[in-house]
Amino acid sequence: MKLLRGGPIDEWAGTVARLFIERLKARRDLRVCLPTGLTPVPIYDLVAAAVTRGEVSFARAEVFLLDEFGGVDADDPGRCDQMLDRFLLSRVDLPRERLHRFDLDGDLPDMCRASEAAVGRGCDLPLPGIGTNGHVGMNEPGTAGDSLTRRVTLAPETIAASARYFSHDRLPTWGVTMGLGTLRRSGEIWIMASGAGKASIVRETLSGPMTDAVPATQLRDHPSALLIADDGAAGV
Ligand code: PGA
Repeated sequence: MKLLRGGPIDEWAGTVARLFIERLKARRDLRVCLPTGLTPVPIYDLVAAAVTRGEVSFARAEVFLLDEFGGVDADDPGRCDQMLDRFLLSRVDLPRERLHRFDLDGDLPDMCRASEAAVGRGCDLPLPGIGTNGHVGMNEPGTAGDSLTRRVTLAPETIAASARYFSHDRLPTWGVTMGLGTLRRSGEIWIMASGAGKASIVRETLSGPMTDAVPATQLRDHPSALLIADDGAAGV
């Protein structure tokens, strides 16, 4: 895993957006796995603006949602699919049938198997964020490196952090996430990190022991893993 220092947050967002747009231009049918949360918001703004200007298009791309909160109303603005829609998809030209979300209403094991089959050989490019406990998606501490898409129990710190996304206090306690094994099948993995609050987990991810106690360390030996950090997260 290499570290790419993106500079101050605005520059960092510009760098990630530019790299993402380059990949989309080079391969119009790019299969990307996208996160929600606060980290990608400034990046999605820049990517959406580039689509509006006609510089790049999602018309032939395929988007896989990284994870989803369980036990939350379908139209709750804190749901991952709602956030992705608000911050990016409602502003770009991705045909709806090219979005893969998680339908949590039916049989979950069946849905997870179908999701793994849809990912197939792997996405071209996931851009997950990282939690302060080292989770990637909802792969919490204790997750095996070969884990697949499944229902998970959220760590207490993840539940507490989710309060930033919800306007009420009925916070989710579980979710469905792509596994670390699902992500490891990808051609490249870019982990995004911004803000000084992520500096210590960024350091641990890059140079601490590889352990399931810090899930992101289990992506370190992927041949094309990049951690893209702004000055705050890089500890500059
Ligand atoms: P954040 O969440 O982008 O809101 O900090 C990242 C994560 O928990 O994966």
